[in-house]
Amino acid sequence: MGPGTKSQVFYNPAMVSNRDVSVLYAKCRAKGNWRMLDGLAGTGARGIRLAVEGPEMNIHINDRGAGAYNIILKNIRLNGLKGIRKNIKPNDDKDIVTSKQDLYALLPTGKWDWIDIDPYGSPIIFVDQAAQRLSGDGVLSVTATDTAPLCGTFSKACRRRYMAKPLNTGCRHETGLRILVGAVIRRAAVTDIALTPELAYYQGHFFRAYFRKAGSARKADALLKRVGYLIFNGGEYSISSDCPAGKSWAGPLWLGDLFERKLIREMLAKADEYMSKDTLKLLGILSDELLQPPYFYHTDDIARTFRVEPPRTAAAVDVLREQGFKASLVHYDTKGFRTDAGLKDLRKVLE
Ligand SMILES: C[S@@+](CC[C@H](N)C(=O)[O-])C[C@H]1O[C@@H](n2cnc3c(N)ncnc32)[C@H](O)[C@@H]1O
Repeated sequence: MGPGTKSQVFYNPAMVSNRDVSVLYAKCRAKGNWRMLDGLAGTGARGIRLAVEGPEMNIHINDRGAGAYNIILKNIRLNGLKGIRKNIKPNDDKDIVTSKQDLYALLPTGKWDWIDIDPYGSPIIFVDQAAQRLSGDGVLSVTATDTAPLCGTFSKACRRRYMAKPLNTGCRHETGLRILVGAVIRRAAVTDIALTPELAYYQGHFFRAYFRKAGSARKADALLKRVGYLIFNGGEYSISSDCPAGKSWAGPLWLGDLFERKLIREMLAKADEYMSKDTLKLLGILSDELLQPPYFYHTDDIARTFRVEPPRTAAAVDVLREQGFKASLVHYDTKGFRTDAGLKDLRKVLE
């Protein structure tokens, strides 16, 4: 069954890697007896994989759909686990709590150490409430499949949902990811909660981000200082903390780091034979990707600006490094590279 078939229960095989990363994240970060909520579970694939492959955690799987709920119960049994209805005490650590509730109604009834939000489209409407239902240093993970608004194809929808302007350049996937991360940080900050991104990435048709909570207004203020704007002018990117004039800019968006390299390397080290090739490829590129500046160059944009043939990406990275600049591939696009070289230096080096 393909994605988006709303009349039946939603299962998207293209999300295998999304769930792989959840399992690896849990192996690195989940502490004993963490309470994890798979809030919009569909078939329950994520929560069940975490119960079977992850470290010991108390898993709660929820979906409001009657069809989905029945499949969740069936999948729990098929995997040799036991499903316990909400409000019934589990006998065993491996028992999975289940509920068939609207997530808006479920969230106020409990507290969790990790809440996962994997909706159709945008997760933003659940963020305020979920942030408040996390334990002190809990984790919020979100998937966003509304890449067309976030990347600038449907600019008005992006402004409506994320209160931010997207920008459709070669760097649009990073821009879209940073808009999503910035919007989550801003929504949580409203209730004095700091949500710091630990791992955020783009893959194929979705954005995914993991945030760690700290419940302090001071920390939220510090995060907001790193929310700003990206400007694209004459083929060159720059950043600003103030809203720019003109048309070619994006934001507000997150300008800080999108992941911790140590976490990525730890996840790679814990990857077993069950991880998909896509997951290993993604983590492999991330483990070497530069964290800053908060934008990358696309070889097609470079070719247009310099009126030359597009350079080969790996060759451009090699030459820049030979010339003493920092440079790396990026996971967003095989034609993208990140560098601390400015446009003038880039022209010199690539010529
Ligand atoms: C994209 S699917 C989830 C996919 C699943 N997480 C996976 O890894 O395969 C979204 C699910 O959210 C459920 N859903 C949507 N809105 C909801 C709400 N307000 N409360 C509870 N479930 C909801 C839908 O029934 C659907 O099964």
